[in-house]
Amino acid sequence: GRKFFVGGNWKCNGTVEEVKKIVTVLNEAEVPSEDIVEVVVSPPFVFLPLVKSLLRSDFQVAAQNCWIRKGGAFTGEISAEMLVNLGIPWVILGHSERRSLLAESNEFVGDKVAYALSQGLKVIACVGETLEQRESGSTMAVVAAQTKAIAEKVSSWDNIVLAYEPVWAIGTGKVATPAQAQEVHCELRKWLHDNAGDEVAASTRIIYGGSVNGANCKELATQLDVDGFLVGGASLKPEFIDIIKSAT
Ligand code: 13P
Repeated sequence: GRKFFVGGNWKCNGTVEEVKKIVTVLNEAEVPSEDIVEVVVSPPFVFLPLVKSLLRSDFQVAAQNCWIRKGGAFTGEISAEMLVNLGIPWVILGHSERRSLLAESNEFVGDKVAYALSQGLKVIACVGETLEQRESGSTMAVVAAQTKAIAEKVSSWDNIVLAYEPVWAIGTGKVATPAQAQEVHCELRKWLHDNAGDEVAASTRIIYGGSVNGANCKELATQLDVDGFLVGGASLKPEFIDIIKSAT
């Protein structure tokens, strides 16, 4: 079975005081054990060491991005090696906010994923269509192309979690219906089956992101191919605990 995965993407939010508060809430929460659910929170870079030092040991941390190759003369960038050096196990790559606002192409994201994996990081790789793409019927073509750009560059999917995050659902309060999420997750798993093999399709976690909250997570979690969530806004609130609990 695929272990349920709940990620909290804090995006570009928080102060030291707020971060400490969130971590306290997480540390005091009663949630299913590590065997049942993998919990990963992703603070902004500057708070990573603080969060890592304070956070309970059964929860992990992720960076929200890293540089495409070995560090060096790349002002403002953070390398995969640095994350490894700090003991950060995970990185989110290809988030739609970076694809759209920072013009990260499919190829760029594929290269980043491959480099991060090569350095020993685990990757939450994000894919998802815009509203326009959905309405024109190209959802599957879009997410397949995004996934293909990753698949072409990596030799193993063992350390990848695939996050399906429809752009129209991110930060809008317009969550995908359980059926909409399941449909794309199922197609993605089929794509993995056809292009990366049986084993990869069966074992790769495909998680959903986009306006997930404490109220809508339960039903989404019952869907056969929904293996967890990548949560934005609600990951900064106590209801994140309810989302973790939807694993059971
Ligand atoms: P929201 O949960 O705020 O819609 O954000 C989802 C997301 O982008 C997680 O990466």
